[in-house]
Amino acid sequence: MTELTDTTGPAAPAEPVAFPQDRTCPYHPPTGYDSLRDGPALCRVTLYDGREVWLVTAHATARALLADPRLSSDRGRSGFPAPTVRLAAVRNSRVALLGSDDPEHHRQRRMVIPSFTVRRAAELRPWIQRIVDGLLDTMVAQGASAELVSAFALPVPSMVICGLLGVPYADHEFFEDQSRRLLRGPTVADTLEARDRLEEYLGGLVDEKTGRAEKGKEGVETESGEGILDDLARRQLRDGTMDRTELVSLALLLLVAGHETTANMISLGTFTLLQHPERLAELRTAPELLPAAVDELMRMLSIADGLRRVALVDIDVAGTTIRAGEGVLFATSVINRDDALYEEPDTLDLHRPVRHHVAFGFGIHQCLGQNLARAELEIALGTLFTRLPGLRLAVPAEEIPCKPGDTIQGMLELPVTW
Ligand code: HEM
Repeated sequence: MTELTDTTGPAAPAEPVAFPQDRTCPYHPPTGYDSLRDGPALCRVTLYDGREVWLVTAHATARALLADPRLSSDRGRSGFPAPTVRLAAVRNSRVALLGSDDPEHHRQRRMVIPSFTVRRAAELRPWIQRIVDGLLDTMVAQGASAELVSAFALPVPSMVICGLLGVPYADHEFFEDQSRRLLRGPTVADTLEARDRLEEYLGGLVDEKTGRAEKGKEGVETESGEGILDDLARRQLRDGTMDRTELVSLALLLLVAGHETTANMISLGTFTLLQHPERLAELRTAPELLPAAVDELMRMLSIADGLRRVALVDIDVAGTTIRAGEGVLFATSVINRDDALYEEPDTLDLHRPVRHHVAFGFGIHQCLGQNLARAELEIALGTLFTRLPGLRLAVPAEEIPCKPGDTIQGMLELPVTW
């Protein structure tokens, strides 16, 4: 057993804190995590059902553990942490990529990685720009105010991921609604039903694409268009490297991860910049800061909080031992504010070297869509603030509802005017 970090830090809070908690300010970690920030690199926290798991809060320890093959992402393993009742309900579903370990994970990732490289994202930029321009044209034509989540933040990544996968955007209301219910449905039954309906829908689409590939009609334009799912369907037929269940699971992950996360970053990123007028003015006068601003927002907002793993063997780390079978969570919102790495971590600073954040994760599961997400965010936020120099919140900031702590963070609605 290797000692990962040979430090014995400060004492843990006397009582394990509850995880996850709701944010008070949408762009800061919950105030209930304050005690964790001065505490040890990892500590015990209590989940909704009273069970205790480890929570990693320090940056160096997080990067070491996220790259450690002794931690598994397999949701079916005993001890895999479920921080919400919804996640507990879906714990036995096989999740492609995100829920698999190497070598299976490597095999799956290799099939999709060419579609998500830096180069591919750069090639897609003019197309993403047209999508953003079209949505802003429509929004502006309808008056001088809008609800930005439904008019802009959600349709941008939805249209992009549909085009890439070859999913018909005409079905967006259906899959956006089911994704919402999957990630934060009011009941467990609702979550399970949403998962089943998405699987059924994507299964039908995959069958349609497989049938089309079988008949040799490659490249024929259909309502859904050609995309990554068509390539995977062809490969499935050609060399059998992927079965239908795996293909549907991958499609579901790409569709849901591809639109929900980026939509939340656009809405919360817009809100955060509007709350920091000096930084926004700086960005307007120096648009070359945009890529750095996107990563600084990613760090500060850490919208995917609470990454999950389970230990396969005993692991000695930061002066403590994680036992085989124990659950481990990563509080990205706290890790990304580690003052050992970031000066004044609570400040939005467009000039800091920020690429080491873990807002896209780290290690083998580091976000597959990060190059795409960065391109979408740069184009969406850059164009929004250039086109609408007078953009402001239409109601007081405190009245704007943000998402609860047990799901991906973002704004439920964002009423704006310009
Ligand atoms: C700003 C938006 C996004 C954020 C904050 C985000 C965040 C993350 C994080 C934290 C992980 C790692 C999870 C873990 O280690 O347990 C991840 C993985 C992943 N993300 Fe993203 N993501 C974003 C956008 C996207 C987009 C646009 C796609 C498009 C397809 C995508 C697809 C994926 C996939 C497939 C994985 C699993 C990768 C693997 O297991 O190898 N994400 N994402």
